[in-house]
Amino acid sequence: MFRKFPQLMQRRGFSSTTSAGFDKVGVIGLGLMGHGICQVAAASGAHQSVIAYEQEQRFLDSGKDRIFKSIDKLVQKEKITATKAEESMNSITFTTDVDALQDTDFIVEAVIENMDLKRDLYTSLGNICKPETIFASNTSSLSITEMSEFSGREENFVGVHFFNPVQLMKLVEVIRTEKTDPEVFQKAYDWVGQIGKVAVSCGDTPGFIVNRLLVPSLMQALLMVDRQDATVKDIDISMQLGAGHPMGPIHLADYIGLDTCLFIVQGWIEKYPDEPSFALPGCLVEKVNAGELGRKSGKGFYHWDGDKRGDPV
Ligand SMILES: NC(=O)c1ccc[n+]([C@@H]2O[C@H](COP(=O)([O-])OP(=O)(O)OC[C@H]3O[C@@H](n4cnc5c(N)ncnc54)[C@H](O)[C@@H]3O)[C@@H](O)[C@H]2O)c1
Repeated sequence: MFRKFPQLMQRRGFSSTTSAGFDKVGVIGLGLMGHGICQVAAASGAHQSVIAYEQEQRFLDSGKDRIFKSIDKLVQKEKITATKAEESMNSITFTTDVDALQDTDFIVEAVIENMDLKRDLYTSLGNICKPETIFASNTSSLSITEMSEFSGREENFVGVHFFNPVQLMKLVEVIRTEKTDPEVFQKAYDWVGQIGKVAVSCGDTPGFIVNRLLVPSLMQALLMVDRQDATVKDIDISMQLGAGHPMGPIHLADYIGLDTCLFIVQGWIEKYPDEPSFALPGCLVEKVNAGELGRKSGKGFYHWDGDKRGDPV
């Protein structure tokens, strides 16, 4: 199945580890994030099996294809052996049968960011899975506490917030609610290390650590544009050359997607209207209303050619 090469090269995130305590792990949703989580979990060798679940066959097939291509690329770059690649693929069971998750020890959910959808999913998972199964959501902006209530197993519920691309980004924020059992939290925290990532611990607060600091700073940059304090280009150059950031805040907002930024901030403002660091810049709303969403639409605060940023608009 995979092109073979002679030597075994074990790399971070793809090395064999000792047993994680979770023999059977489930991943729900094989989109941008879920396929990466499934791949990393399978490649860690820490589980007897990984159950990859999608509701529809076509999404299951495309998720499987994404994982296959990503693993194959690692073989071609000689980062893992063809044998290891085969082992990883073979340890994943791809299914559209939700009952296959019934006896999993740990489930990571990575379905689209929609609370109605997640509510239905957790309500049914709570009934389907054995009582000891720990649920972990990869949500970026929704309340872990709220989801845990839908699941009917608040003490067995955490957040595990991965970063995109999962295969490369080392950090995972592990989120505890007021009801999370400390032992459950510890297991989830340890699991993150066992699949080759670095865990940090955070309470169930909007944006957790990274986005709570990052998103308001992007909004502050756009508020400067609203006030005409400085140009888009000068703000970005300043944060690159003066603060040492790899890219400026408005470049980053374009890269993430202006609609995504708007969605996150609007949600926070709705829920926490008295929090002064959650502010909505007028220029962001105008851009999204005009369909200028940044990289994904070819135009935002900058022109884009695929992943390549052009001049400011
Ligand atoms: N995109 C990011 O950069 C990023 C980063 C960190 C966390 N997240 C979070 O990860 C989650 C997934 O985001 P994504 O970007 O991978 O989304 P995506 O749209 O790429 O993938 C979502 C997948 O879930 C599947 N799905 C939808 N409903 C389902 C159901 N009921 N059962 C099974 N599968 C279902 C879809 O078919 C799709 O393949 C969201 O909660 C998001 O907030 C995203």
